[in-house]
Amino acid sequence: MASDKAKKEIEKLRTEIQRHDALYYAEDRPEISDREYDRLMQRLKELESERPELTTPDSPTQRVAGQVQEKFKGAKHRAPMLSLDNTYNVDELWEFHNRVIKNIGAENEIEYVVENKIDGLGVALTYKDGRLIRGATRGDGVQGEDVTANLKTIKSIPLTIPSEREGIRELEVRGEVYMRRDGFEKLNAQRIADGLTPFANLRNSAAGSLRLLDPAITASRPLGIFIYNIGYMDREPFAAHVEVLEKLKSFGFPANSWTLRKSLDQVIELIEQWKTNKEPLPYDVDGFVIKVNSTKYQEKLGSTAKHPRWAVAYKFETEQAQTKILDIVCQVGRTGTITPVANLEPVLVSGSTVSRATLHNEDEVRRKDVRVGDTVIIEKAGEVIPKVVKVVEISGQARGEPFAMPKDCPECKTPLHRVEGEVAWRCVNAACPAQLKERLWHFAARKAMDVDHLGPAIVDQLVDKGMVKTFSDLYKLKLENLAELERMAEKSAQNLVDALEKSKTAGFDRLLFALGIRLVGQRAAAVLAQSYGSMDNLLKADAEELGEIMEIGPGIAQSLVDFFGEEINREEIQRLRELGIVMQAEVRENSGKLEGKQFVLTGTLESMSRESAKEKIQAQGGRITTSV
Ligand code: IVH
Repeated sequence: MASDKAKKEIEKLRTEIQRHDALYYAEDRPEISDREYDRLMQRLKELESERPELTTPDSPTQRVAGQVQEKFKGAKHRAPMLSLDNTYNVDELWEFHNRVIKNIGAENEIEYVVENKIDGLGVALTYKDGRLIRGATRGDGVQGEDVTANLKTIKSIPLTIPSEREGIRELEVRGEVYMRRDGFEKLNAQRIADGLTPFANLRNSAAGSLRLLDPAITASRPLGIFIYNIGYMDREPFAAHVEVLEKLKSFGFPANSWTLRKSLDQVIELIEQWKTNKEPLPYDVDGFVIKVNSTKYQEKLGSTAKHPRWAVAYKFETEQAQTKILDIVCQVGRTGTITPVANLEPVLVSGSTVSRATLHNEDEVRRKDVRVGDTVIIEKAGEVIPKVVKVVEISGQARGEPFAMPKDCPECKTPLHRVEGEVAWRCVNAACPAQLKERLWHFAARKAMDVDHLGPAIVDQLVDKGMVKTFSDLYKLKLENLAELERMAEKSAQNLVDALEKSKTAGFDRLLFALGIRLVGQRAAAVLAQSYGSMDNLLKADAEELGEIMEIGPGIAQSLVDFFGEEINREEIQRLRELGIVMQAEVRENSGKLEGKQFVLTGTLESMSRESAKEKIQAQGGRITTSV
C-alpha cells in the first residue's frame, strides 16, 4: 500500500537523521556532508507535508515548532538539582579527598573522573519510552521552568534515544547548556546595532537565550549542550560514572570529555599539566569537576542539603586587584583591528605584575565608562589577558574626559572604518606600518616561517626605517643593511641572515599560514597544502572547489579567493617564489597515482578507518572532498 510505503520511508529517514545527529554531535565523527544531511531532512519534510497525520512531535523536522508563550510553566525536579562545592587550590582538594576517605572507610586510593566545568546553565531533560517529554532549567534546584520548546531547538539534544536497550523507560539526564564564543560576538554586535544592551558574558547570553518566549529566536542562537550525569532512571545504577558517560554517549548525547585518574595525586598532576598547556575551547570553561567514579561510593557518600559529597569543583583562580588607569592607547592589529588598551599602575595579580589590560573595543569602554585617572578593578582568569572589570567610584574625586575612539589610525593616520554590525573599528590601509609590523611578527613566528632572531625590536626598526615593506623584502636584506640597525652586532646580523635563508624551506603549509590570510589558521593551511600540493595548484582553485574540501568551508574558501584575487598579493607570491621560498608540499611517498582525482568518503569502510583511508588517498596525491 502506498501509504505504508510513505510511513516506512518517514521512519527510515528519522532513524537515519537521528543516527547522523548522534555521530555529529555526540561522537564528533560525521559520516556524511552537511549537504547530504540537508537532503535527508528535505525529503523528510516533503513526505511529512504530504502526510501531515504522520508528523510526530519528536520528528527531527519539529525542532522549531513551539508556539510563542506568554510565560513558562513551572517544572518541579524529581530529585533536587544540587550545586557543587568549590575549591580553589590543591590544599582544598586534599581536604575534599580526606573527607571522601573518612566517609567511605579505610581505602586510600580512590578513582576520580575529571571533567571540564562548563560555564553555562544547568538543565534537566526527561525522556519517557525513549522520547524527550520535558526540558527544564535548574531554577532554585527544586523547581525550574519548563523550557522544552526552546531546548528542542538545540540540535545536539536528541529528541529520541534508544534507552530501552538498557532496560530504561524513564530517564532524566542533566547537563549544561552553553553558548559558543564566535556566535556570541556576532550576537552582541547585532544587539548593539539594534540599540539593545549587549550580554556581559557567554553564560548570561546562554541563559537569556534559553528563557526567550519565542523558540524561533532561541533556534537562531549558537547554543550547545554537554550532558554530565543521570538525574533519575527506572533501572539499577551503572557501576561507575565513566560507564554512565559512555552509556549516555551511546544514546546520542554529547558528553563532556572526561579523564579517569587512579588517585588524587594523579588528578593534581593533570591540573598542573593543564596550567602549562591550555588549549582554548570554543566555549567557556571555568574549572574542573572532580567526581568519585564508583557509584556505590557515590551513594554511600550522599549529599548535604546543597552539595553532593562525591564531587567537587576546582575553579580557576580569577584573582582581582585594584589599580589606576594611567593612559588608554589604541593598538593596531595584524588585520587593522583597533583595540583600546589600558596602561595601568603596575600591580601584582596571581603571581605576576600586570601593567596593561585590554578594554576590547569602543562599546566596552563606553559601557564600563573607563576614563584615564580612574581607579579600577582588574581581573586575571586562567590564561586570559587581564581585563578591566569595573571602575571604582570614589566620591568627590574629579574624573577625566570620557574615552573617545580616535577618528584616524594612531599609526598611519588613515581614517578608521567600522563595518556595520561589527564592534571593531579598523584601519583599512594595507600599508599601515603598525599592521605591517604585526604581519611580519606573525610571518616570522615559530608556528609560521620560524625565523629565529627576528624579534619585535628588529621588526620595528626595519619598518620604521622603511627597509621592509613586504615579506619578500626580508629576504633581500644584506649583512650591510642589517649592520645599520641599532644594537645589531655583526654576529647577530649573520644569525638573522642565516635564519632567513633557512626559513625558505619551512614548507608550503607554513608559508600559507604565515601569509596571514584571514581565517586561514594552522590547521586549514595544513589541509590546503596536503590537498593541493603546490601554490600553483592552489592559485587555480575557485571558491566552490575550495569550499568542498573537508575542514575548509565557505568562509575560508572565500577569504582565500579574495586574497589571491588581489594583484598585489599575487605579485608578492611571485617575488617570494623568485627568492627561492619553497611553495610545494613535501611529497610524502606520493606515487601521484591519484593526482587530480577527488574522493568522497561516506559510510563505514570495511578494511580501514576513514582517517587512515583519508591519509592514504592524500599520500597518493588524491583530494578528499565532502561531495562530488
Ligand atoms: S556535576 C550535583 N559536571 O556546575 C551537581 N556540573 O555549581 C552535579 N556544571 O549545577 C553537577 N559542568 O550546572 C557537573 N561537568 C560538570 C559540569 C557541571 C558544569 C555546572 C552544573 C552545576 C554547577 C555546579
